Amino acid sequence: MHPDKLGRPLRDLRISVTDRCNFRCTYCMPKSVFDKDYIFLPRAELLSFEEIIRLAKIFVDCGVEKIRLTGGEPLLRKNIEKLIAELARLPVEITLTTNGSLLKKKARVLKDAGLSRLTVSLDALDDEIFRRMTDADFPVVDVLDGIASAAAVGLAPIKINCVVRRGVNEHQILPMARHFRHSGHILRFIEYMDVGSSNGWRMDEVVSSSDVIACVAAEYALEPIDANYHGEVAQRWRYVDGGGEIGVISSVTRAFCSSCTRARLSTDGKLYTCLFAQHGHDLRSLLRAPNCADADLADAVSTVWRARNDRYSELRKNATNAVKKIEMSYIGG
Ligand code: GTP
Ligand code: 5AD
Ligand code: SF4
Ligand code: SF4
Repeated sequence: MHPDKLGRPLRDLRISVTDRCNFRCTYCMPKSVFDKDYIFLPRAELLSFEEIIRLAKIFVDCGVEKIRLTGGEPLLRKNIEKLIAELARLPVEITLTTNGSLLKKKARVLKDAGLSRLTVSLDALDDEIFRRMTDADFPVVDVLDGIASAAAVGLAPIKINCVVRRGVNEHQILPMARHFRHSGHILRFIEYMDVGSSNGWRMDEVVSSSDVIACVAAEYALEPIDANYHGEVAQRWRYVDGGGEIGVISSVTRAFCSSCTRARLSTDGKLYTCLFAQHGHDLRSLLRAPNCADADLADAVSTVWRARNDRYSELRKNATNAVKKIEMSYIGG
């Protein structure tokens, strides 16, 4: 399939399987917006597993090499392991990003279903700070147990994603680094981004990756290492003493749009070509139309991808764009 307008091929597909989450991270689903009156997608709007599988196959034929299941919280979707088992038949890597709250219960079935890899979001080790970030009545120790369960069933090494927000969890950078050194897992610090329109993002709340690295390097010597593959979003660093590796994801201070090969499929079947998009392309209507052939869907994907010229993070200056953007809980991280 043809690359997009900026020469980028389609290689990754991120599928959001639910727009719901049991956490209310202040940077993602703040309670002021996602309260008890918030209307989530009704069941009929969601793509069924059969529809997701059909689309996934078409995307793989269009060049996708990696599929990541996201949410909301993907483990809230009933029988997610059945979807994974079907997707695992495809000749691509199947990964999943979770908040870890249901991992202790689900690790074994995920592994048995054929999940290739796992990423867990974890923003603090201190229980009070963790609760402040997630705004949920859930103890951090349960997420840590979930990570241990996932490692025990063979899903290690696990990537741990930590979003850093100034004034909230920046003092957890070192404790997190200490905790995951020598664990075999890969801790990545993410710059807080202006995704969606509800988190009230401000540039002065972003802790830059260079500050994160300086903070860790003040205690443990670090050296940069090469990317695993072209277009990897994290910049990798290794502890000189053999303690393993960490990463930083600098979507604010060092945008990586020029190598962005990601397409996103929302819970209700819209195709988005950028995390910061305002509009998606409705694949579900096409999918549900009578006599829609796979070739019609492949044509639609190809047409959308060819026209793609998104590079939001490269264009963002110090202020977030005032336009209404879609929420990350709906489109997936
Ligand atoms: P692997 O290399 O397969 O492990 O995945 P990854 O490094 O791409 O990691 P992951 O998909 O977990 O992405 C980590 C985080 O980077 C996400 O949660 C987002 O916060 C951010 N991110 C990922 N993709 C994009 C993107 O296309 N644009 C921007 N701006 N941020 C992204
Ligand atoms: N900025 C940076 N990362 C974010 N995530 C969610 N919202 C934001 C944001 N505003 C991350 C979560 C999780 C993944 C799904 O995306 O921490 O790791
Ligand atoms: Fe839920 Fe993840 Fe968003 Fe937190 S960042 S509210 S865990 S989807
Ligand atoms: Fe890709 Fe858009 Fe993120 Fe740039 S801002 S890396 S184009 S998803």
